[in-house]
This record gives sequence, C-alpha cells and structure tokens, in this order.
Amino acid sequence: MTITTALPRDFLYGFATAAAQIEGGGAESEKESGRGDSIWDEFCDQPDKIRDGSHVKKTCNHLAMYKEDVAMMKSLGANAYRFSISWPRLIPLGGKDDPVNQKGVDFYNDLIDECLKNGLVPFVTLYHWDLPLELSKRYGGWLDKEKIVEDYRHYAKMCFDLFGDRVKHWLTFNEPWCTAVLGHGVGQFAPGHVSNTEPWIVGHNLLIAHASAAKLYIEKYKSTQGGMIGITLNGDWTEPYDDSPENIEAAQRKMDFALGWFADPIYLGKYPQSMIDILGDRLPEFTKVELALLKDSSEFYGCNTYTTNTIKAKESDDEFAGFTTMGFEKPDGSMIGPPSQLGWLRDVPWGFRKLLNYIHQRYKKPIYMTENGWSIKGESLLSVDDAIRRYHAVRVPNDEGRVKYYQGYTQALKDAVEKDGVDVRSYFGFMDNFEWASGLIPRFGSVYVNYETFERTPKDSARTLMKFFKDNVSR
Ligand code: BGC
Repeated sequence: MTITTALPRDFLYGFATAAAQIEGGGAESEKESGRGDSIWDEFCDQPDKIRDGSHVKKTCNHLAMYKEDVAMMKSLGANAYRFSISWPRLIPLGGKDDPVNQKGVDFYNDLIDECLKNGLVPFVTLYHWDLPLELSKRYGGWLDKEKIVEDYRHYAKMCFDLFGDRVKHWLTFNEPWCTAVLGHGVGQFAPGHVSNTEPWIVGHNLLIAHASAAKLYIEKYKSTQGGMIGITLNGDWTEPYDDSPENIEAAQRKMDFALGWFADPIYLGKYPQSMIDILGDRLPEFTKVELALLKDSSEFYGCNTYTTNTIKAKESDDEFAGFTTMGFEKPDGSMIGPPSQLGWLRDVPWGFRKLLNYIHQRYKKPIYMTENGWSIKGESLLSVDDAIRRYHAVRVPNDEGRVKYYQGYTQALKDAVEKDGVDVRSYFGFMDNFEWASGLIPRFGSVYVNYETFERTPKDSARTLMKFFKDNVSR
C-alpha cells in the first residue's frame, strides 16, 4: 500500500555523529587502531581546554561497538546514519605522500557495509574538525591554502576511491564557521588560536578546499558512482529584536557573518557586502579561478541548526557577529524559549521554520538537515534511569524537554515542507557524545551513553523522533 504524506519517500532520517566525538574507546585501543593524533588530541592534552578534563581518545567506543550502534539505530527505526571519517585514522600524518592506515580503511569499509546490510543509508562527512596534527605542525594546517587544499583533496579522493561505490551522500565539511572562528578566532576549539585575521583566511581556504574536492567528485566520480556532494553549514535564525530598521538590518548582518560567509560565495558567487564593508582587506578576495571553482560546488544546502537569537543593532565588540548584540530577550522582557544546559541554546521551533524558508528562498537548493538537538540542563547529574525517561515521578528536568524540542522542530520542518513548499530531504538527531570543549557534560543525545561501561540506552526522545518520521515519510 502506498501512503503519501508531507515528506517524500526518499527522505533520510536517523542519527548524526562525528568520528572525534564517538569513536574512541581509550588511549590504548586508539593507539592500537593506528589512528594518528588530530589537533583535538593535542588540545585535550593541554590543561583547562576541556571543561571536565575528558579526552577525545575516550568517548563512546564506537570503533569497537559500531555493529551494536548500527543495530540500535535500525531498531529505533532510522533509515540513514550520518557519521564522519577521521582523516588521521585513514592517513595518520595526513599528507598526500604519507602512508595509509589499513586498519582505518578496514574500519570504514566494515561500518559502511554494516549500515547497508541494516538498511541505513550512510551519509558521510569528510571533515568534522579532526585535522591530522602533523599538518598543523608542518605548515599551520588551514592557514596554508596551497598545501592544505592539496592534502585535503588527496584525502577526499582517497575516500571517493575507497568508499564511493557504496557512499552516495558526501559532505565536504561540517560547519567551517566553527573551524574558522572557534578554532582560529576565539581559541575555544582546537587548535586554540586567538586572532582577528586568521579566521577570515581559514574560512577562505576552507571554501577553496571544499570546492576543490566537490568539483573533483562532480566531474570525475559522479557519473560512475551516482552520488551527490555538498557542504553543511551552521546557522541559527536571527530574529530582529523589534521592527526598527536598524535591528532588522542587524539581524541580516548577523546572518551574513554566520552562514552567508560560506553560503553566499558557494551559491551566489560573492562574500556578503556587509562582511566586505566591515573586514576590508582582512577578507581575502577570490581569484577568477576560485570563483569558477566555487560555482555549483554544492549540490544541496546542508543545514545544522539548534536555536534562534534575537538581534539588536546596539554595537557590541563581537566582530564575528558583525558587531551585533545577540540575545534571547524580547522587548517585553520575556525569553523566546526555555533554556538548556548551554547558554547559547534555547528551544524556538518557529525560528527553525523561518530559517528553512530563508535558506530556501535565498539559495534555492534542496536542504538536507544534518544536525539538530537539545541538551538538558543538569542531565549529566541524573542517573540513567532518570535521564532516559520522558515522565518521571520526581520532578527532575529529564528527557521530557528533549521530546518537546524534537516535537516542535519536526513539526516546524513538516510545516515548512507542507505549507511553505520548502524542499527538505533529511533530518538527523544525536546520541550522547564528546561535546568538544564542553567535554562529556552536555548530553545532547536521544540515546544515553554510560561513559564508564559504554552501555547505550535509548531515551524516550529517540523513539518519539523516529516515530514522527515513520508516520510522516511517504511509503
Ligand atoms: C557540531 C556537533 C556538536 C553540536 C552540539 C555542532 O555545531 O557540528 O559536532 O555536537 O554542535 O554542540
């Protein structure tokens, strides 16, 4: 029987992870696996960089437990799995002339086969922040355009050659904004640089690396392998604080500095004017060759989004936000949504719908939602029993908040598709994992992970989320 609903039959849904956030089972097994260090290993080795002192080498042990994870995702009803390949697991030193780690190749081959065997479409990110440390030492990593583009392109080509017979959905980069700003601007992420010039250079080089790998795929692999490739960008809806012209303009400027920075060059062929005006010659110029390379280099718009901010024009010193002031407050003093574990995250589903409409109208590409999720205040202090349940006798902030978040966001997605005609083709939530500089404290997942025993327990939100798609994707 055919059931036609809002979301198309080939809509992909499931869980999203990244290699550095979930693979590690401990220093010893990581060493044995032959993975080279990434900039995150070095970052975690430094005191005070990770909030709870946890380490990227010991996260969720997915390397050993991937079969169990795939089986669990399948049993929850997912039809796809978004994960990233660790560049230093494949090429420990990272460079184009450096040796390959066969154990790494075997792992990703097995993981992909396991996904396919269980009916999960593998959705693969090539770079989710774990640059091989050696490339950072050799030439400064993302700061050296010529060298990094060459090494990244070689790594990407290796992935297409090795896995492209089975992987049909590729992402070149996850959230280049974070690599540029958090890694090279404010120093909150590896490699921990603080600068007001580096982020713009790194952002530019990431764009060229993206285009170079994507064009290689589109021109040399697509016709035989039949997949698609794109980039995924972070960006939250920016709601003008009120309807004054300055605040409306500021909200657009904040949007330019978040997603326009990367999306405008790729889909519209230039940096946003507001960035050119503010940054002057700190923002590199594209050569004609680079612009041609960027054109049509992303076959879809990959979207990671979590929240919404209210934006005021009132000058702040945050250049990365286009000197706007970001908050959650409305003119009547109320907040636009309930708080989470993290200061930057509030639950605002209507903002999500507006964002989907904005992307659809401005960039005119199919949208793949590649990340979305919620971290509950104080969740890491709860027992597993309290954390996994939506309803609980004791009034603790448990999974109920996440269920609500997912209900709101999935309904907003459905409305955007059904009522606004936005073309959205996937949705991925999370399992608990290593939250970068916040360590293991924020629990973003709809699957609980015990970081001592590595035991996994699905939360009610995992079931609610998958059920929504089961009910709403055409069959
Ligand atoms: C990143 C994820 C991370 C999430 C929540 C996103 O920006 O892509 O790796 O887990 O934020 O912090």
